[in-house]
Amino acid sequence: MKGERTTTTAGEAPAVAPPGPPLTLPRILSSATHPRWYAAATADLHALLSDHLHCERKAAENALSLVRRYPHRGDSVDALGRLAHEETSHVIQVAAFLARRGWTPRADTPNLYARGLFAQVRDREPLRLLDTLLVAAFIEARSHERLQLLAHGFAADGQDELSAFYQVLANAEDRHAEIFLELGAALVPADAFAARLEEMSARESEILSALPHTSRVH
Ligand SMILES: [Fe+2]
Ligand SMILES: [Fe+2]
Repeated sequence: MKGERTTTTAGEAPAVAPPGPPLTLPRILSSATHPRWYAAATADLHALLSDHLHCERKAAENALSLVRRYPHRGDSVDALGRLAHEETSHVIQVAAFLARRGWTPRADTPNLYARGLFAQVRDREPLRLLDTLLVAAFIEARSHERLQLLAHGFAADGQDELSAFYQVLANAEDRHAEIFLELGAALVPADAFAARLEEMSARESEILSALPHTSRVH
């Protein structure tokens, strides 16, 4: 509740607790984002929002690309089509937010985080599809964590409009991670799925920890 006092995890001075749910680390992530990330990410808000817009665009494109590559998987076509629709609505929302600030989206730049994750995808089906779905799940889960961090950080900084904006989008990314996990779990036996999830979780943490903190979502 706004106005309550709480102590930050880093043990600094008490801060004003933001509205919305408490911060949670998505279950598939092995590590939390470094505490210094927030300051770096928000140092250039125009750059952060531009990167965020392209993240949403790529999420929509990735979902539709899976429909193109795997049209025979009927249930997933429905889920992925709806997901692409929602991600496209996020593109529109981020674009509108940029426009309200008088900013034009900047060009996309290479996403080394996503590139590192996609490099883990194996060649042979159905493992290729499984890994692709897991990569998407990790990107969604990490996005959920970081958009939550932005929502909380902006609230603490008194930027309520930005905070509310990011809280709504953070909640959506959490649901999206679960959709990809559900689609992936249907492809292989449960023990094989759990083993690959654990491997990918460790790899995701390694990839993330090797990247610099800049004004982008990841
Ligand atoms: Fe999204
Ligand atoms: Fe998403």
